[in-house]
Amino acid sequence: MNITLRVWRQKGPDDEGRLATYKLTDVSPDMSFLEMLDVLNEKLTLENEDPVAFDHDCREGICGACGVVIDGEAHGPERTTTCQLHMRSFNDGDTITVEPWRAKAFPVVRDLVVDRGAFDRIIQAGGYISAPTGTAPDAHANPIPKPDADRAFDAATCIGCGACVAACPNASSMLFTAAKVTHLGMLPQGQPERASRVVKMINQQDEEDFGGCTNIGECAAVCPKGIPLDTISQLNRDLLGSLSKGVG
Ligand code: SF4
Ligand code: FES
Repeated sequence: MNITLRVWRQKGPDDEGRLATYKLTDVSPDMSFLEMLDVLNEKLTLENEDPVAFDHDCREGICGACGVVIDGEAHGPERTTTCQLHMRSFNDGDTITVEPWRAKAFPVVRDLVVDRGAFDRIIQAGGYISAPTGTAPDAHANPIPKPDADRAFDAATCIGCGACVAACPNASSMLFTAAKVTHLGMLPQGQPERASRVVKMINQQDEEDFGGCTNIGECAAVCPKGIPLDTISQLNRDLLGSLSKGVG
């Protein structure tokens, strides 16, 4: 495949940034999107140009490090992570525009890399449980109904990639925060902090300059892990319950 790339280049947080155009030939349809960017970077390096900075780690769809906006869509045309997207999703001769996540709470570090530390601080605010130390409890000491275990597990599959924020016109992080609240709130181990957790995480979310949720649903539409919108309803129910009891 021959493709034309329009890639966001930005030397640092204070640089204005611009789209640069590159042509690539002999791109294999079986390459992942990141492997295609590797090929671009080898070419740029040989031409004594700075390679394009982009975030990645596992390249298996599990760490959440990768993530760019491709032709206006977070993670591109398939519902998957950028590292699991393949060039066969594009056509020979395509022009593909690649940009970083755009959100005030995710400032650009360089090129396609953004600072997602705001997510870490939301987790630090309440995404934990208190567990007594000592002997490991017996397996099955805490029976958990299957539907609750399934819902907790499904919510726990959130990888913190930030696509939900990038896709939301309000740059809201509600789906991410709701996934964490739901994951812990469905399990007995998560109950001691349940009421305070949701208040602390929402307060931190507001401090980080994420926008408010207006139920548009773009977040769930792009989420590579299929986190459902009704986790946001669960968060809102927990939040109302906590506030009505004077928690926070
Ligand atoms: S909710 Fe989905 S899109 Fe948002 S951070 Fe988690 S995995 Fe990524
Ligand atoms: S590099 Fe880990 S999810 Fe893409």
